[in-house]
This record gives sequence, structure tokens and C-alpha cells, in this order.
Amino acid sequence: MNKLFLAMVITTATVFLVWLLVQYANQQMVPVVPPDPLFKEVSASIEDRIENLLSYMTLAEKIGQMTLVEKNSIITERDIADYHLGALLSGAGSQPEQNTPEDWKKMIDGYQAMAEESRLGIPLLYGVDAIHGHAHVQTATVFPHALGLGATKDAELVYKVAKATAAELRATGVNWSYSPTLDQPQDIRWGRVYEAFSDDPALVTELGVAYVKGLQTHSDLFKDNLFVLATPKHYLGLGSMQWDTSLNKNFKIDQGVTLADKELLYAKHLPPFAAVVEAGALSIMVGLNTWGEQRMVLQKELLTDVLKGELGFKGFLVSDWYGVHEGRRNTFWATVQAVNAGVDMVMLPFDYHTFARHLTWANRLGLVSNERIDDAVGRILYAKFALGLFNTNDESSALVSIPNVDHQVLAREAVAKTLVLLKNEDNLLPLSPNISSILVAGSAADNIGRQVGAWTIEWQGIDGNWLPGATSILSGIKSRVSQRTLIQYDVLGNFATSEIKAPVGIAVVGENSYAEGWGDTEQLVLSDEDLQAIANLKASANQVLVIIVSGRPLFIADEIDSFAGLVAAWLPGGEGAGVSDVLFGDKPFVGTLPIPWPSQIEQLPIGYDDETADGTQLLFPRYFGLSL
Ligand code: BGC
Repeated sequence: MNKLFLAMVITTATVFLVWLLVQYANQQMVPVVPPDPLFKEVSASIEDRIENLLSYMTLAEKIGQMTLVEKNSIITERDIADYHLGALLSGAGSQPEQNTPEDWKKMIDGYQAMAEESRLGIPLLYGVDAIHGHAHVQTATVFPHALGLGATKDAELVYKVAKATAAELRATGVNWSYSPTLDQPQDIRWGRVYEAFSDDPALVTELGVAYVKGLQTHSDLFKDNLFVLATPKHYLGLGSMQWDTSLNKNFKIDQGVTLADKELLYAKHLPPFAAVVEAGALSIMVGLNTWGEQRMVLQKELLTDVLKGELGFKGFLVSDWYGVHEGRRNTFWATVQAVNAGVDMVMLPFDYHTFARHLTWANRLGLVSNERIDDAVGRILYAKFALGLFNTNDESSALVSIPNVDHQVLAREAVAKTLVLLKNEDNLLPLSPNISSILVAGSAADNIGRQVGAWTIEWQGIDGNWLPGATSILSGIKSRVSQRTLIQYDVLGNFATSEIKAPVGIAVVGENSYAEGWGDTEQLVLSDEDLQAIANLKASANQVLVIIVSGRPLFIADEIDSFAGLVAAWLPGGEGAGVSDVLFGDKPFVGTLPIPWPSQIEQLPIGYDDETADGTQLLFPRYFGLSL
């Protein structure tokens, strides 16, 4: 009996070893590529080109395509060719040594040249988070963050903003953007509220589609190709996470557990993704959230059956930053599970050597099938062909200059449309440019870093006036008033006392910049300094207008009665003069609240129909906004 068992074990082991050897031998065979392969034929269909290219690819080359590496993690540039890397990214704050448009282009062209040196010369996708312009580049145009664009409800404007952003991306060699955000923030304690357009699925859908089209739409020189590949994110259920459920020990709600049941998830969070798929999105990012018992990267039903199956998504799914491996002890198994669930490209973003080894073994052991790998690679190649990356177009005349005056004009127009007028007692606004004097105070009045917010040069943003070419809200006010108007500014509102009060004081107050879970907080109140500035202004001016520069509504119910006027300016970006355009009546107030404005923390989270958690009344409902 024992001998028989032993014989069976030995036979099984031998058969398995032989099978492995055959697999290995098969994978070592490198198909020969003819001089003019079909995949280089611009006139052939994308499907034929993919099939042809796949037929020449070794397993290592396929796995390389599924690999997304942060550029600072490349050990030696030669690895781009040797590991057949499919895509690189600049994470937030990761720039060339000199952060100029020219150096970005030179850097990325260099990486592309290295990719060309690989056997098949498959071009790279190079991605950045252009979530409010190409704001990692020193002189690029910085548009308002998405929540402000949501306040405009203006799809045409969003289309133009995305198109201008795409032009600046291509000018620096970037062909891929991790935007737009289709999240639906229901809890303003989340540090990513401002990255979303709204919590209303209908508005998120409309503006998300406009953004995708703006990024991807052909210019004359890109007639048949996408211009910049969009990546709607984060699939699925972001914005509906529960406070205090984050899997990241540093955070509270970011990377947390999505509360929605299946019905709500499908009814509210899915439609914007269905719409962008329909509009031609060819890459979608999977979120770092958990739903039910599982992280999103493992939800095969949502990733594969629903998105790729029912919704007919032809593009590829890219995981978020370290999202496949974070918190997983067994990274081999994490890779196997995520790829089998439907992740096509893994944003590692660091250790690509281990990933290549793991996925190779997973395939050899039959844990990830050839079909799954071919499907993933085919999807990535689809996007690359659709972008025209294999075509040898001369793009030089399509490249816009940076800084770009036309784009700055557009940004200023956008700022004006994002402003929401919440209170205007005694017709305080519009202000007359001939007013005798204005006192200005507050932490965000003369602080471009607060205005542009995070994801600008650095991930968490940089406080202060350091961004070349940008204008602060204060300088916008100064440049609009008549020559005889006296403008005085003090951040804390400490003005010399005089018997006659100034007619108007403007307090520009708000939040410090923050990104992602670092902005998770319950302290959604004005700082002591800003409250002091408002109090000081009230002592020196007859009427005080408060402008809030923030990534979300703040709790102001206790103070609002003392403001004569109140404007929500969100995170307007680099063109502070867009604010004064509206304050002085050159342009109308057209913005409305893209999300409800609560009066107290107990109201959170706020439901889709504006219902508060404690049943009390909101300070302002969604879409509230006065006009003059
Ligand atoms: C964010 C993504 C972003 C990615 C790449 C992650 O931390 O969650 O939204 O696209 O980083 O920078």
C-alpha cells in the first residue's frame, strides 16, 4: 500500500516536472518578427494589429506590458527595455530635476527611446494625475479643482478645461492622465472631497463624460487617434466610505469601507462609469476601498463581469498606487488574485522585479492562465493603438507652449463660474470699483498655495506665494479697483483704528492644503487666526464679506449671522483674478453648491436626497446659490 502510494507520488511529481519543463521551454521560444509586421500597419484594424503583435510576444514581454512603475523606482533606465515595461508614471511630486516643460519632455522622450530599444519597441504609456491642469509642472496652467467645476454645472467649460490640460500634457510628452474623478463624496470629513465634481451621480456623469472627451478628443493632427488617454477613477464606490474604517492606519475614511449595499452601489456609483465607457474611456482605475468583505481589486464580479462584461468596457483596468499589494503579507498570492479578478495593469509602483517573477511563476503553475494574460495585454495594447503610439506622426506642430496665455484666460473664466454666492445682505455685492477703500484679511487672501490646493507641484501642496505666473485673490482685487481706491491688507486684519470705518472688509479664509487621507478630519472649522481676522475686520469695516477657499464645506453655522456676505470659492487655482471679476460685477455669479453644506458634524454622512444623518436641516442644500 505504502509502496503504491509512493509510486503514485513519484509519478505525479515527475509528470508535473515534465509539464513545467515543457511550459518553460515554450516560454523560452522567442517568435521571429518579420521586417514589416502587420501590427505596424496603420491601415490595419486595431483588433488585427493586437492579434498580430500578441503572436510575437514572449511571456516576459507580456508581463512587462502589465507593469506600471513610478519613474523614481526604475533601478536603471536599461530596465525599461530589459523588463519590457508597459508604462511609467510620475507620482505626485515626482519631477525631472529641473521642473520645466522642456525637461519633462526630454525626460519622457528619453524613456520612450529606451522602450524603443526593446525587441518589439512597444511605446510606453506615461501617466500623471492631471486633476486640475498639468499642475506638477512649474509653469503649467492650474485650473480650479473638480469640486469647483462641479459648481459650474457647465459641461462645455469642463470639456475645454480638459482639452487645454491635454494640450499641456502632450507638450511635455505625457500621454496618459489619471483623471477625471467620478467619486461621490457623501462625507466631507474625507480628504478627497475636492477631487470630485459632486455627490450627485447625474452631474458626475455629465461632467465626467465631458472631461474624458476633452482629454481624448482628436485635434487636427490626431484625427484618428486619442489625444491623451483618460482614466476615470476610482472604481467603485468611493465617497460612500464609512468614517473610521480606513485600512490605512494613518487615515480615517480614505481607503475605507464603502457602506452602500449592492442596489445603491449599482444605482448611484455605476452609472458614471457606464457613461464614460460609452464615451470611449479605455482605462479605468480601481479604488483602494473595500466593499463588503473584500478590497475592490479583488471584486471579480464588479471588475470583470459587470464592467468588462455587462458594460462592454474594451480598455484596461489599472490598480491604484500599491493597491494590489498594500497590507498583503503574501504578495505572490495578492498578484494572482488581483489579476484573476480583472486588474490588467498593476501600479506597483515600486518593485517590478518581484512582480515579474511572481506573475511568471503564477502563469507557469497554471494559477493565472495564458488567456487572462493575453486578455490583459490585448486591452493595454488596444489603448496604445487607439492613442496612435505606434504611428510615426510628427507631433511637433501640435505642441502648445507653456505657460499658455489662452489657457490662463480659460482658467480665469472657469474660476469666475465656480463661485457660489451664499449670502448677500443689503446688496453688499457687487462691489463698485470706485469704492473709497477696502480692507482685506485672512489666511487665503494672499496665499497662492491655499488657492491652488494640493496636487500642485507637491502631493500635499506648498503653502505661500511660490508659483510663478499665478495671481492671488488679493492681487486680483488690487488690479480691479480704481486708482483712488485704498486697498489695505493684513493677514490677521490688524488695521490702524480710525473713527471712520472702511465701507467693506473682505476676509479670504479657509483650509490649508492636503491630499488624500492626510485631509481626513473632523476639524472642519475656521482656524482661530481666520476667526480673529474676521473679528478684526468687523471692528474696522461696516460690512464684512467672507470668501471661503476650501476643498469642502466647513462648519460655519455659529458665525454666518455675522457675515454680511458669503462666497464659496472652493480651490480656484492659479487665476485669483477670476474671483474679483465676479466680486466687482464684471461677470455674474452662476455657481451653485455641488454638494450639500451641512451645519454640524452629526449630519454626516449626507444621503443622496440631502437627508442628514441626524435628521436636522442642512445649512444649505445641494445646488443652492444666489445670483445678483
Ligand atoms: C491616488 C490615485 C492616483 C495615484 C497616482 C494614488 O495615491 O489614490 O488617485 O491616481 O496615487 O498618483
